Amino acid sequence: MTFNGRKTILSSDIEDLRNFIEGRRSILIAQSGISNLAKEFIDENLLKSEFFDIGDREEAKNLETVMSIVDYLGKKNVGRSDCLISFGGGSASDVVGFTASIYKRGMELAIIPTTLLSMVDASIGGKNGIDIGGTKNQIGTFYQPGIVYSDMNFLKSLSEIEYKSGLGEIIKYGLSIDRNLLSFMTGHIEEIEGRDEKVLRSIVTWSQRIKLGIVKEDERETEGVREILNVGHTVGHAIESSSGFKIRHGIAVVYGMLVECELSIKFGLAEHGLCDTVREIIKQFNFPVPERFNINKIAKYIINDKKINGGKINFPALKRAGETEVIRIDIRDFLGWVKDEKIWPAW
Ligand SMILES: NC(=O)c1ccc[n+]([C@@H]2O[C@H](COP(=O)([O-])OP(=O)(O)OC[C@H]3O[C@@H](n4cnc5c(N)ncnc54)[C@H](O)[C@@H]3O)[C@@H](O)[C@H]2O)c1
Repeated sequence: MTFNGRKTILSSDIEDLRNFIEGRRSILIAQSGISNLAKEFIDENLLKSEFFDIGDREEAKNLETVMSIVDYLGKKNVGRSDCLISFGGGSASDVVGFTASIYKRGMELAIIPTTLLSMVDASIGGKNGIDIGGTKNQIGTFYQPGIVYSDMNFLKSLSEIEYKSGLGEIIKYGLSIDRNLLSFMTGHIEEIEGRDEKVLRSIVTWSQRIKLGIVKEDERETEGVREILNVGHTVGHAIESSSGFKIRHGIAVVYGMLVECELSIKFGLAEHGLCDTVREIIKQFNFPVPERFNINKIAKYIINDKKINGGKINFPALKRAGETEVIRIDIRDFLGWVKDEKIWPAW
C-alpha cells in the first residue's frame, strides 16, 4: 500500500524484513518487558541490528523516552537513511514511530508488533501519540512505516488479558465492517482460543487489510472516513479511562460495542437481534466480565471525547453485522441515553 509516495509492506516473511534493513544501519528499540524476546529475535534471525531498550507500557509513552532515544541516536551518529525498528506493543510503536518521524526530520521506520492489538491496530495506519502530563496522545504525528513484520509466534507468550484485548479489536472490524471476518471467527473459536498460528495469521492479515483500506481513504482523518474505526470506542474509551486503565483497551471496546449497539437500537438504526449477537460473542470468546460500571463517571469521560464539535458528537452507529453509519447527535441527548441504566449489561 502506498501513502504519499511511501510504500508500506505488510509481511510475515522474515526475508522481507531482512531485505528492508539490508544496506542500512538498524537500531531495534524494544519494550523492557520483552527485551529478552527482542535479543533472541535479533540473534536467531542473524540481524545486525543494534539494541536499545525503553520502559514498558503506557509509562514509556512520554517525551523523556523520546529524548533518551534521540540522545542515543545522536551519540551513535545515526543518519536519516538508517532505520529505527520498533519491537513491542502499541506503546512501543507510538514512541518509536514518533521519534522516527522527528529525528533528522524523518528516518526510516520498521514496526515489529508483538501484541495482538498492535498487530491489528497500533502498527497500521501511521498514527502515533505521546502522552503529556497524564493526557493520552496529546502530541503525535502521522508517519507511515516502511514495513510491518508480524510473527504469530510472538503471540504465544502474550498474557491472556493482552490477547483478549487484541481479539476485541478484531471483533470490532468484523462487527462494524466485514461480517465475513466475524463468521470466520465464530467458526474457529477453538483455534483462536488455542492461538493456532494459521488461523491467527488469517485474522491478523484480514484485519490489517481492513484498517489499511480505510486509512488509505482518509490518512489524516480529515475526510471522516476513518471515524468508522471508532465503533465501540466512544463508550469503550470512557470505560477504559474511568477504570484507571485497569480494563484493557480492546476489552473495554467490546463492552463499548455492546452499549453502543443498545444506543443504536434507541436511535432506530440497529437491526433487531444485533445486541444479542454481540452478547453471544462476548460469551463465546470468554471475555472477562468487568466489575460493575460507574455510569456517571463514564459519562463524564464521554464529555471530553475528541469526536465532539459544535455540541454534537460524530457517532459511528452499528446497523447490522458488518455495517456502520456515522451519525451526528446532540451530545446532551447522547449522554441522556448513555445514563439510562437499562442499556448497560446487568450482572
Ligand atoms: N497509534 C495507533 O494507531 C494506536 C492504536 C491503538 C493503540 N495504540 C496505543 O497502543 C498502546 C497499547 O498497546 P498494546 O495493547 O499493544 O500494549 P503495550 O504496548 O502497553 O504492551 C502491553 C504489555 O505486553 C507486553 N508484551 C508485548 N509483547 C509481548 C509478547 N509477545 N509476549 C509477552 N508480553 C508481551 C509488554 O511488555 C507490556 O507489558 C496504547 O498506548 C494505545 O494508545 C495506538
